[in-house]
Amino acid sequence: MSVPDIRSFTVGPVQENSYIVRADSGSRSAVMVDPGDEPQRLLDAVEALGVEIEAILITHCHFDHIGAVASVARATGAPVYCPQIERPVLAEVMRWVPPGFGPFESYEADHTLTGGERLSLAGLDIEVLFTPGHSPGHLTYAIPGALLSGDVLFQGSVGRVDLPGGDWPTLERSIGALLGRFPGETVVYPGHMGVTTLQRERDTNPFLAELRERVPAAAPAAGPRAPAR
Ligand SMILES: [Fe+2]
Repeated sequence: MSVPDIRSFTVGPVQENSYIVRADSGSRSAVMVDPGDEPQRLLDAVEALGVEIEAILITHCHFDHIGAVASVARATGAPVYCPQIERPVLAEVMRWVPPGFGPFESYEADHTLTGGERLSLAGLDIEVLFTPGHSPGHLTYAIPGALLSGDVLFQGSVGRVDLPGGDWPTLERSIGALLGRFPGETVVYPGHMGVTTLQRERDTNPFLAELRERVPAAAPAAGPRAPAR
């Protein structure tokens, strides 16, 4: 089985991870996940890899994840897939951007997703999962062996739940569903900070203590860190 080739680009003032994902390292087509900022840098990477972007996938519409969507879509011609509930945010980005950030360009999504879909794009079989809690329409994209999970779960932390539509019990349920559904070795490519695995977070993430009691396989947790973005 070929292994997906996933390139990470940390962009913008909030250090968001944008990803270029291919079915394997020889594939000429790719999808881009969460082009959040620095569109020229992302487009230069597309050119350097020699790939065509077949689609742009958005996990959620916080500005740091969508700031470069319009530029990348225009330059590549790729259609944009957006969580349905959050489509109005993408369509009017600056209404939701805190002072001091931007300006960012709005975009009318070409397709909307609610979770439960299966997409076949760039030779990848992509399962779309509804994982709300950090934001109301948040999606996780599952490909073989990996999750592109936006701001659901981080290395040693979880997505913040103090922004509009955020809710910890909902986010905890979403994380629990991922832990229950995918094997521990599944690699998590998050929207911020480094790559991790479901097993590592299940065993050590201090925010998942209650989940661990319900899904046994626990190891003692390290001291808690502040929730990240
Ligand atoms: Fe976010």
